Amino acid sequence: MSNTVLVTGTSTGLGRATAKLFQARGWNVIATMRSTATETELTALENVLVTTLDVTDPASVQAAVAAGLDRFGRIDVLVNNAGYGAYGPLEATPQEKIQRQFAVNVLGVLSTTQAVLPHFRANGSGTVVNVSSVGGRITFPLGALYHGSKFALEGLSEALQYELAAIGARVKIVEPGGMTTDFGGRSLDFSNDPALGEYQQLVADTLAGLGPMMAAGSAPEKIAEVVYAAATDRTDRLRFEAGADAEQILAARRAAGDEGFYSTMKAQFGLG
Ligand SMILES: NC(=O)c1ccc[n+]([C@@H]2O[C@H](COP(=O)([O-])OP(=O)(O)OC[C@H]3O[C@@H](n4cnc5c(N)ncnc54)[C@H](OP(=O)(O)O)[C@@H]3O)[C@@H](O)[C@H]2O)c1
Repeated sequence: MSNTVLVTGTSTGLGRATAKLFQARGWNVIATMRSTATETELTALENVLVTTLDVTDPASVQAAVAAGLDRFGRIDVLVNNAGYGAYGPLEATPQEKIQRQFAVNVLGVLSTTQAVLPHFRANGSGTVVNVSSVGGRITFPLGALYHGSKFALEGLSEALQYELAAIGARVKIVEPGGMTTDFGGRSLDFSNDPALGEYQQLVADTLAGLGPMMAAGSAPEKIAEVVYAAATDRTDRLRFEAGADAEQILAARRAAGDEGFYSTMKAQFGLG
Protein backbone atom coordinates (compact mmCIF):
# COMPACT_ATOMS: atom_id res chain seq x y z
CA MET A 1 0.00 0.00 0.00
CA SER A 2 1.35 3.45 -0.96
CA ASN A 3 2.12 6.07 1.64
CA THR A 4 -0.11 9.11 1.85
CA VAL A 5 0.83 12.74 2.48
CA LEU A 6 -1.47 15.67 3.25
CA VAL A 7 -0.01 19.05 2.25
CA THR A 8 -1.47 22.46 3.11
CA GLY A 9 -1.18 25.46 0.78
CA THR A 10 -0.74 23.59 -2.52
CA SER A 11 -2.14 26.34 -4.75
CA THR A 12 1.36 27.69 -5.45
CA GLY A 13 5.01 27.68 -4.44
CA LEU A 14 6.56 25.12 -2.13
CA GLY A 15 3.27 23.40 -1.31
CA ARG A 16 2.56 22.76 -4.95
CA ALA A 17 6.11 21.57 -5.69
CA THR A 18 5.89 19.27 -2.65
CA ALA A 19 2.58 17.76 -3.77
CA LYS A 20 4.00 17.09 -7.23
CA LEU A 21 7.23 15.57 -5.91
CA PHE A 22 5.49 13.14 -3.56
CA GLN A 23 3.09 12.15 -6.34
CA ALA A 24 6.01 11.56 -8.71
CA ARG A 25 7.61 9.32 -6.05
CA GLY A 26 4.50 7.11 -5.93
CA TRP A 27 2.75 8.58 -2.89
CA ASN A 28 -0.96 9.27 -2.56
CA VAL A 29 -1.35 13.02 -2.13
CA ILE A 30 -4.08 14.99 -0.37
CA ALA A 31 -3.39 18.35 -1.98
CA THR A 32 -5.24 20.98 0.01
CA MET A 33 -5.81 24.63 -0.76
CA ARG A 34 -8.12 27.46 0.24
CA SER A 35 -9.87 27.48 -3.12
CA THR A 36 -9.95 24.53 -5.49
CA ALA A 37 -12.16 26.29 -8.06
CA THR A 38 -9.50 26.93 -10.72
CA GLU A 39 -7.22 23.99 -10.02
CA THR A 40 -6.66 21.77 -13.06
CA GLU A 41 -3.06 20.52 -12.96
CA LEU A 42 -3.10 18.64 -9.66
CA THR A 43 -6.60 17.26 -10.18
CA ALA A 44 -5.37 15.60 -13.40
CA LEU A 45 -2.64 13.66 -11.59
CA GLU A 46 -3.13 10.05 -10.55
CA ASN A 47 -3.53 9.36 -6.82
CA VAL A 48 -4.04 13.03 -5.97
CA LEU A 49 -7.10 14.25 -4.10
CA VAL A 50 -7.51 18.01 -4.37
CA THR A 51 -9.62 19.30 -1.54
CA THR A 52 -10.42 22.52 0.29
CA LEU A 53 -8.57 23.42 3.47
CA ASP A 54 -8.23 26.84 5.07
CA VAL A 55 -5.95 26.45 8.08
CA THR A 56 -7.87 29.16 9.94
CA ASP A 57 -11.14 27.22 9.63
CA PRO A 58 -11.03 24.13 11.89
CA ALA A 59 -14.15 22.67 10.24
CA SER A 60 -12.44 22.73 6.84
CA VAL A 61 -9.34 21.12 8.37
CA GLN A 62 -11.43 18.28 9.83
CA ALA A 63 -13.31 17.86 6.54
CA ALA A 64 -10.09 17.67 4.49
CA VAL A 65 -8.56 15.07 6.82
CA ALA A 66 -11.79 13.04 6.68
CA ALA A 67 -11.93 13.28 2.87
CA GLY A 68 -8.29 12.15 2.64
CA LEU A 69 -8.87 9.18 4.93
CA ASP A 70 -12.00 8.30 3.03
CA ARG A 71 -10.11 8.24 -0.27
CA PHE A 72 -6.77 6.70 0.74
CA GLY A 73 -7.46 4.95 4.07
CA ARG A 74 -4.51 6.46 5.94
CA ILE A 75 -2.24 9.48 6.32
CA ASP A 76 1.46 8.92 6.92
CA VAL A 77 2.78 12.46 6.64
CA LEU A 78 1.34 15.92 7.23
CA VAL A 79 3.22 18.83 5.65
CA ASN A 80 2.22 22.10 7.32
CA ASN A 81 3.32 24.41 4.51
CA ALA A 82 0.61 27.11 4.30
CA GLY A 83 1.97 30.42 5.50
CA TYR A 84 2.81 33.96 4.52
CA GLY A 85 4.81 36.94 5.70
CA ALA A 86 3.42 39.97 7.50
CA TYR A 87 6.05 42.69 7.78
CA GLY A 88 6.16 46.37 8.61
CA PRO A 89 6.50 48.60 11.66
CA LEU A 90 4.35 47.25 14.50
CA GLU A 91 2.96 50.74 15.12
CA ALA A 92 1.66 50.80 11.56
CA THR A 93 0.09 47.34 11.64
CA PRO A 94 -3.66 46.92 12.22
CA GLN A 95 -4.78 44.44 14.89
CA GLU A 96 -6.52 42.33 12.28
CA LYS A 97 -3.23 41.74 10.43
CA ILE A 98 -1.41 40.88 13.64
CA GLN A 99 -4.01 38.28 14.48
CA ARG A 100 -4.19 36.85 10.98
CA GLN A 101 -0.43 36.24 10.84
CA PHE A 102 -0.53 34.10 13.96
CA ALA A 103 -3.85 32.51 12.98
CA VAL A 104 -2.33 31.16 9.75
CA ASN A 105 1.33 30.52 10.61
CA VAL A 106 0.87 29.25 14.19
CA LEU A 107 -2.71 28.41 15.15
CA GLY A 108 -3.33 26.88 11.73
CA VAL A 109 -0.41 24.50 12.23
CA LEU A 110 -1.66 23.55 15.68
CA SER A 111 -5.20 22.78 14.52
CA THR A 112 -4.10 20.88 11.41
CA THR A 113 -1.64 18.84 13.45
CA GLN A 114 -4.25 18.22 16.14
CA ALA A 115 -6.62 16.91 13.47
CA VAL A 116 -4.24 14.15 12.32
CA LEU A 117 -2.95 13.07 15.74
CA PRO A 118 -5.77 10.65 16.66
CA HIS A 119 -5.02 8.86 13.39
CA PHE A 120 -1.24 8.85 13.97
CA ARG A 121 -1.84 7.59 17.51
CA ALA A 122 -4.07 4.77 16.27
CA ASN A 123 -1.42 3.79 13.69
CA GLY A 124 1.47 4.18 16.13
CA SER A 125 3.27 6.17 13.42
CA GLY A 126 3.20 9.37 11.37
CA THR A 127 5.40 12.36 10.60
CA VAL A 128 4.55 16.06 10.80
CA VAL A 129 6.78 18.30 8.69
CA ASN A 130 6.51 21.95 9.65
CA VAL A 131 7.72 24.45 7.07
CA SER A 132 9.45 27.11 9.09
CA SER A 133 12.14 29.37 7.62
CA VAL A 134 15.61 30.65 8.35
CA GLY A 135 13.33 33.34 9.69
CA GLY A 136 12.47 30.91 12.50
CA ARG A 137 16.09 31.10 13.69
CA ILE A 138 17.13 34.65 12.74
CA THR A 139 15.17 37.85 12.24
CA PHE A 140 15.08 40.70 9.75
CA PRO A 141 14.01 44.24 10.64
CA LEU A 142 10.27 44.96 10.61
CA GLY A 143 9.51 41.27 10.97
CA ALA A 144 8.09 41.09 14.50
CA LEU A 145 5.02 39.31 13.17
CA TYR A 146 6.53 36.92 10.63
CA HIS A 147 9.55 36.01 12.73
CA GLY A 148 7.45 35.91 15.89
CA SER A 149 5.19 33.39 14.13
CA LYS A 150 8.06 31.27 12.78
CA PHE A 151 9.93 31.31 16.13
CA ALA A 152 6.66 30.12 17.67
CA LEU A 153 6.47 27.37 15.06
CA GLU A 154 10.00 26.28 15.93
CA GLY A 155 9.17 26.24 19.64
CA LEU A 156 5.94 24.33 19.30
CA SER A 157 7.62 21.82 16.98
CA GLU A 158 10.52 21.32 19.36
CA ALA A 159 8.11 20.70 22.25
CA LEU A 160 5.84 18.43 20.20
CA GLN A 161 8.68 16.03 19.40
CA TYR A 162 8.37 14.59 22.91
CA GLU A 163 4.65 13.91 22.90
CA LEU A 164 4.74 12.65 19.33
CA ALA A 165 7.46 10.20 20.37
CA ALA A 166 5.02 8.90 22.99
CA ILE A 167 2.62 7.84 20.20
CA GLY A 168 5.31 6.56 17.81
CA ALA A 169 5.18 9.66 15.60
CA ARG A 170 7.76 12.32 14.64
CA VAL A 171 7.99 16.01 13.92
CA LYS A 172 10.47 17.66 11.55
CA ILE A 173 11.22 21.31 10.88
CA VAL A 174 12.27 22.49 7.40
CA GLU A 175 14.01 25.87 7.28
CA PRO A 176 14.22 27.32 3.76
CA GLY A 177 16.15 30.44 2.91
CA GLY A 178 14.78 32.52 0.05
CA MET A 179 12.52 30.77 -2.46
CA THR A 180 11.34 31.99 -5.84
CA THR A 181 7.63 31.75 -5.07
CA ASP A 182 4.72 34.14 -4.54
CA PHE A 183 5.96 34.75 -0.99
CA GLY A 184 7.59 38.13 -1.69
CA GLY A 185 4.77 39.16 -4.06
CA ARG A 186 1.10 38.50 -3.45
CA SER A 187 1.80 36.71 -0.17
CA LEU A 188 3.76 39.61 1.36
CA ASP A 189 1.49 41.55 3.69
CA PHE A 190 3.46 44.74 4.30
CA SER A 191 2.01 47.43 6.57
CA ASN A 192 3.32 50.97 6.65
CA ASP A 193 2.26 54.49 7.57
CA PRO A 194 4.32 57.19 5.84
CA ALA A 195 3.32 59.61 8.63
CA LEU A 196 5.59 57.61 10.96
CA GLY A 197 8.70 59.30 9.61
CA GLU A 198 11.23 57.67 11.94
CA TYR A 199 10.65 54.27 10.36
CA GLN A 200 10.69 55.25 6.70
CA GLN A 201 14.39 54.75 6.02
CA LEU A 202 14.21 51.30 7.58
CA VAL A 203 11.09 50.52 5.55
CA ALA A 204 12.90 51.48 2.33
CA ASP A 205 16.04 49.54 3.28
CA THR A 206 14.08 46.46 4.33
CA LEU A 207 12.00 46.38 1.18
CA ALA A 208 15.15 46.88 -0.90
CA GLY A 209 16.91 44.08 1.01
CA LEU A 210 14.12 41.47 0.99
CA GLY A 211 13.39 41.57 -2.77
CA PRO A 212 16.87 40.54 -3.99
CA MET A 213 17.09 37.93 -1.25
CA MET A 214 13.93 36.22 -2.57
CA ALA A 215 15.07 36.54 -6.18
CA ALA A 216 18.40 34.91 -5.33
CA GLY A 217 16.69 32.08 -3.47
CA SER A 218 16.14 28.44 -4.35
CA ALA A 219 13.52 27.06 -6.69
CA PRO A 220 10.67 25.55 -4.64
CA GLU A 221 11.27 22.22 -6.40
CA LYS A 222 14.71 22.08 -4.76
CA ILE A 223 13.30 22.80 -1.30
CA ALA A 224 10.56 20.20 -1.86
CA GLU A 225 13.39 17.63 -1.99
CA VAL A 226 14.33 18.67 1.55
CA VAL A 227 10.70 18.36 2.65
CA TYR A 228 10.73 14.84 1.19
CA ALA A 229 13.99 14.00 2.95
CA ALA A 230 12.56 15.25 6.25
CA ALA A 231 9.29 13.37 5.73
CA THR A 232 11.08 10.09 5.14
CA ASP A 233 13.84 10.53 7.74
CA ARG A 234 13.75 7.75 10.31
CA THR A 235 16.18 9.32 12.79
CA ASP A 236 15.56 11.76 15.64
CA ARG A 237 16.91 14.70 13.61
CA LEU A 238 14.56 17.65 14.11
CA ARG A 239 15.83 20.49 11.87
CA PHE A 240 16.53 20.53 8.14
CA GLU A 241 18.14 23.70 6.78
CA ALA A 242 17.08 24.08 3.15
CA GLY A 243 19.09 25.87 0.48
CA ALA A 244 22.66 27.14 0.30
CA ASP A 245 21.65 30.61 1.50
CA ALA A 246 19.95 29.12 4.57
CA GLU A 247 23.03 27.09 5.47
CA GLN A 248 25.27 30.11 4.96
CA ILE A 249 23.27 32.61 7.04
CA LEU A 250 22.63 30.15 9.89
CA ALA A 251 26.34 29.30 10.01
CA ALA A 252 27.13 33.03 10.10
CA ARG A 253 24.64 33.45 12.93
CA ARG A 254 26.27 30.67 14.95
CA ALA A 255 29.78 31.99 14.29
CA ALA A 256 28.95 35.60 15.20
CA GLY A 257 27.04 34.89 18.42
CA ASP A 258 23.94 36.88 19.40
CA GLU A 259 25.20 40.45 19.72
CA GLY A 260 27.73 40.02 16.90
CA PHE A 261 24.99 38.93 14.53
CA TYR A 262 22.62 41.72 15.58
CA SER A 263 25.27 44.37 15.00
CA THR A 264 26.01 42.98 11.53
CA MET A 265 22.29 43.22 10.73
CA LYS A 266 22.08 46.75 12.10
CA ALA A 267 25.02 47.82 9.97
CA GLN A 268 23.45 46.16 6.93
CA PHE A 269 20.23 48.11 7.46
CA GLY A 270 21.91 51.45 8.21
CA LEU A 271 21.09 51.40 11.93
CA GLY A 272 24.51 52.49 13.14
N1 LIG B 1 9.44 32.03 -0.27
C1 LIG B 1 10.31 32.18 0.69
O1 LIG B 1 11.29 32.91 0.52
C2 LIG B 1 10.18 31.41 1.98
C3 LIG B 1 11.30 31.28 2.79
C4 LIG B 1 11.21 30.56 3.97
C5 LIG B 1 10.01 29.96 4.32
N2 LIG B 1 8.91 30.09 3.52
C6 LIG B 1 7.68 29.42 3.94
O2 LIG B 1 7.28 28.51 2.93
C7 LIG B 1 5.87 28.29 3.03
C8 LIG B 1 5.27 28.36 1.63
O3 LIG B 1 5.45 29.63 1.09
P1 LIG B 1 5.81 29.86 -0.45
O4 LIG B 1 7.16 30.46 -0.49
O5 LIG B 1 5.52 28.66 -1.23
O6 LIG B 1 4.78 31.06 -0.78
P2 LIG B 1 3.45 31.13 -1.67
O7 LIG B 1 3.75 30.68 -3.07
O8 LIG B 1 2.92 32.48 -1.45
O9 LIG B 1 2.50 30.02 -1.01
C9 LIG B 1 1.82 30.24 0.21
C10 LIG B 1 0.71 29.23 0.28
O10 LIG B 1 0.06 29.34 1.57
C11 LIG B 1 -1.33 29.35 1.32
N3 LIG B 1 -2.12 29.95 2.38
C12 LIG B 1 -2.10 31.23 2.86
N4 LIG B 1 -3.02 31.37 3.81
C13 LIG B 1 -3.66 30.17 3.94
C14 LIG B 1 -4.70 29.68 4.74
N5 LIG B 1 -5.35 30.46 5.64
N6 LIG B 1 -5.09 28.38 4.61
C15 LIG B 1 -4.49 27.59 3.71
N7 LIG B 1 -3.50 27.99 2.90
C16 LIG B 1 -3.09 29.28 3.02
C17 LIG B 1 -1.48 30.10 0.01
O11 LIG B 1 -2.77 29.85 -0.52
P3 LIG B 1 -3.62 30.91 -1.40
O12 LIG B 1 -3.23 30.66 -2.81
O13 LIG B 1 -5.04 30.56 -1.10
O14 LIG B 1 -3.24 32.29 -0.92
C18 LIG B 1 -0.36 29.47 -0.78
O15 LIG B 1 -0.74 28.20 -1.28
C19 LIG B 1 5.34 29.34 4.00
O16 LIG B 1 5.11 28.72 5.25
C20 LIG B 1 6.48 30.35 4.10
O17 LIG B 1 6.50 31.01 5.34
C21 LIG B 1 8.97 30.80 2.35
